[in-house]
Amino acid sequence: MVTTVTTTRALAQGQPGLPTPRPRHYLMCPPTYFDVVYEINPWMAAGAPVDTAKAVAQWQVLVDTYTGLGHAVDFLDPQPSLPDMVFAANGATSVGGRVLAATFATPQRKPEASHHVAWHRENADRLGWRAVTEAEHVNEAEGDFAVLGDLVLAGYGFRTDPRGHAELADAVGMPVVSLRLVDARYYHLDTALGVLDDTPGRGNIAYYPKAFSEGSQQILRRLFPEAVFAADEDAEVLGLNFVSDGLNVLVPHRAEKLSAQVAERGYVPIPVDLSELLKGGGSVKCCTQELRKA
Ligand code: ARG
Repeated sequence: MVTTVTTTRALAQGQPGLPTPRPRHYLMCPPTYFDVVYEINPWMAAGAPVDTAKAVAQWQVLVDTYTGLGHAVDFLDPQPSLPDMVFAANGATSVGGRVLAATFATPQRKPEASHHVAWHRENADRLGWRAVTEAEHVNEAEGDFAVLGDLVLAGYGFRTDPRGHAELADAVGMPVVSLRLVDARYYHLDTALGVLDDTPGRGNIAYYPKAFSEGSQQILRRLFPEAVFAADEDAEVLGLNFVSDGLNVLVPHRAEKLSAQVAERGYVPIPVDLSELLKGGGSVKCCTQELRKA
């Protein structure tokens, strides 16, 4: 019997379907000027004391964790008058070497977009970008776009305009599935849903069903029968705002149950404490824009 088990395990390791990491390339922006001076989501309390040095130190641990895992990280220069710029995921979406820049929903963040456009254009040759497009309709990039290998899940209801979903589909040539968000605490898709595996044909996600309309929950059940459902207490600490490289899942540290759930599926949860940035309504994924050449 023991032999049988061992053989099965050995075979299983070579089987497609097991969590497998892929080297990633990320764009991040240091929280040098991070602060909470306006309220554009329910997590923000304007004037709340913010320890910027602590925010920078916590963010640096996230950077070091990525590089320690062998991932590449590029940096965008922070701007003094843009306290939310640390949330780099909102600036642009790249798929297959094509980039669609954000058009922010709120006046406070609108000026961030041009910094992302400029960075992507300056680095286009090095990254192999085929196109960097500016968006006509509002889209807050990877805040509302979850990119899998063969489709993009797109949130609307609070920030991104559904017309921006069609604009992304056209800009990057990928099918886009629209999902309606219904709870203001989960104002971006990446606060309610995270991609665990983006391998084409076998993608998987974790999500918080109650953040979505009935119809959108049904779509997610059809597309992802194996998905991980997050509990209230994990959603409430922004646990779904994680980043996975296909094996390692960098997850907001207080989401303990979710960490256990992904570990059961064979992933390796790595807790990351970004408590200062949580005051702005963001965590791991919000700080991380993925650069996708393929
Ligand atoms: N304060 C920022 C905002 O409300 C937080 C953005 C978080 N980013 C994210 N990808 N969810 O826009």
